Amino acid sequence: TIKAVIFDLDGVLVDTAIYHFQAWHRLAEGLGYSFSIVDNEQLKGVSRIESLELILKWAGLEKSESEKEDLLRQKNQWYLELIEQLSPAHLLSGSLELLKKLREKGIKIALGSASKNALGILQKTGIVGYFDALIDGNAVQLSKPNPEVFLKGAEALGIATADCLVLEDAQAGIDAARAAGMQVIGIGQAEHLKGADLVVADLGCLVGKF
Ligand code: G6P
Ligand code: MG
Repeated sequence: TIKAVIFDLDGVLVDTAIYHFQAWHRLAEGLGYSFSIVDNEQLKGVSRIESLELILKWAGLEKSESEKEDLLRQKNQWYLELIEQLSPAHLLSGSLELLKKLREKGIKIALGSASKNALGILQKTGIVGYFDALIDGNAVQLSKPNPEVFLKGAEALGIATADCLVLEDAQAGIDAARAAGMQVIGIGQAEHLKGADLVVADLGCLVGKF
């Protein structure tokens, strides 16, 4: 039985994955690297610094630590500009319905996101009050597919890992949930979500399951 649901943020609850893509795309173009949708899939769920390291590797570029800091600052500045107008209208289909249903059923709710911008996004979209625990990019040392973010979520809720269900749109997140010994449902296309117990198109598909 599921006693807790741990939600990824970007691309699961809120439609922000497109803005990460746009900001990385702009940064990569500036470096003379043509950044594709296929590249982007590999960055989903991955921390800001590790995403930059991957782009530099693909582009065959080496940068000093201070240059990397500048690039990270630039990317985040563009990203923040893109999400400045974020509102409840950017919640993905079924987000609110599922959060409400879980509350109704007494199932605990945690966030398990790599993003350091998570709190602001939850506030702008009006859903921060649904969460019993928030584990974000400021709270973890290790990026998905390391299970740290989900293990910390279960711990904060006081729920055994086997009783937790993770909802994820990224392969790195599916792998992290598996490594944490949790059940995991992929949101999106099955080809990008290998190892999930189930893959559905959006959170709305899950409202009837609880
Ligand atoms: C999520 C997103 C990634 C993003 C990462 C860090 O995992 O899927 O695309 O790079 O969070 O987000 P941040 O807001 O801290 O740059
Ligand atoms: Mg995601």
